[in-house]
Amino acid sequence: MTQDATVIAQMRQLIQLLAKHNHAYYVMDQPSIEDSEYDQLFHQLKALEQQYPDLIQPDSPTDKVGGQALAKFVSITHAVPMLSLGNVFNQDDLFAFARRIEERLPNQKIEYDVELKFDGLAISLWYEHGVLTRGVTRGDGETGEDITQNVRTIRNLPKLLSAVNGVIPDLLEVRGEVLMPKSGFEKLNAANAAKGEKTFANPRNAAAGSLRQLDPNIAASRPLAFYAYGIAQCVPYHGQRSMSDSLEWLSQFGFAVGERHFICDSIQDVQKVYEQIIEERASLSVEIDGMVIKVNDLKQQQQLGFLSREPRWATAYKFPAVAALTTVENINWQVGRTGTLTPVARLNPVAVGGVTVSNVTLHNIGEIHRLDVRIGDTVSVYRSGDVGVTIHSNVSSRTQLDFQMAV
Ligand code: IVH
Repeated sequence: MTQDATVIAQMRQLIQLLAKHNHAYYVMDQPSIEDSEYDQLFHQLKALEQQYPDLIQPDSPTDKVGGQALAKFVSITHAVPMLSLGNVFNQDDLFAFARRIEERLPNQKIEYDVELKFDGLAISLWYEHGVLTRGVTRGDGETGEDITQNVRTIRNLPKLLSAVNGVIPDLLEVRGEVLMPKSGFEKLNAANAAKGEKTFANPRNAAAGSLRQLDPNIAASRPLAFYAYGIAQCVPYHGQRSMSDSLEWLSQFGFAVGERHFICDSIQDVQKVYEQIIEERASLSVEIDGMVIKVNDLKQQQQLGFLSREPRWATAYKFPAVAALTTVENINWQVGRTGTLTPVARLNPVAVGGVTVSNVTLHNIGEIHRLDVRIGDTVSVYRSGDVGVTIHSNVSSRTQLDFQMAV
């Protein structure tokens, strides 16, 4: 094969894998790999595309936000697109994010608003003259699904706004996340298990499954909650000067906001808050997958603007991955102290849960068969407190690739 054909085959394989996992995640609500692994595949594709821009495939998912409206709900085009956030994963990336901001806003004092990154589903809510008239999923960011009937059943969500300082906006579009708090999730799963019904893999899937119910009575029986994190439109303009003031204003209308919220004077303080929240994560009432860091001043946000589909004024600061994808470079037999032979996979080094992993035990021949692992395969490695690092699954789609090579 020529070099171009090899690159195209790699791109096609990544696109097919991403499409498969996207479908499992967005349509079936049954994720087939960890989010961090999905991100890794996505970045692999992006990197290939950067290196070979002439070979970019027309159906590449890298220029879309992700997800697609389901046919069974009415589609609604967002008046203001629901965009995504860039990611940082460590202190160096975080400080680089701050430097880029400082370079664009020289000699200005920059304050950061630090919020929980809720691990749920983004939705948009419309209030016309104080009445909840519309709830829409994010969908692909441009077009979502009309889930008004279901969002009306969310208990902590105001259905009718009462005036704040004598004012109710003519139109208020609030953005935020629908979640199933951990306690509600556990009760729902216990109840479903007792009835012999399907249990959910995690609170995020439970929330997604509940919101997609066509029958609002089922949605109503699920313990969902909404947390607000922004205002997409407000007529007349709300007049708030900062992100934190906007959140405070929303909470006066009765919207729930995150149970933790910080304003930091420096990016060093943001790092400290992030480390503190990693410690507190387990004790929070909802699942989070990181923090969101935003420039607090709304005028400064406006000055910074957007780069393609992401704001320059905000980023997600993700928690360290506990799962990652890598390739098997070799498989050796290692002789133990007592003379036992153990198969060991030599991996392309990869960071998982804060350590770099390059060797992982395959335990025995049975495990090699179970995983059907061969040199060159892509595997998913997990790091857990109890058992250390293990290969969880083999995500290579050898048959798919063989098929593509043949055509
Ligand atoms: S602000 C321009 N704040 O993260 C986008 N997003 O990766 C502004 N998310 O789809 C988004 N918690 O659903 C924002 N406190 C928070 C958030 C948050 C979770 C989600 C959001 C978005 C995704 C972006």
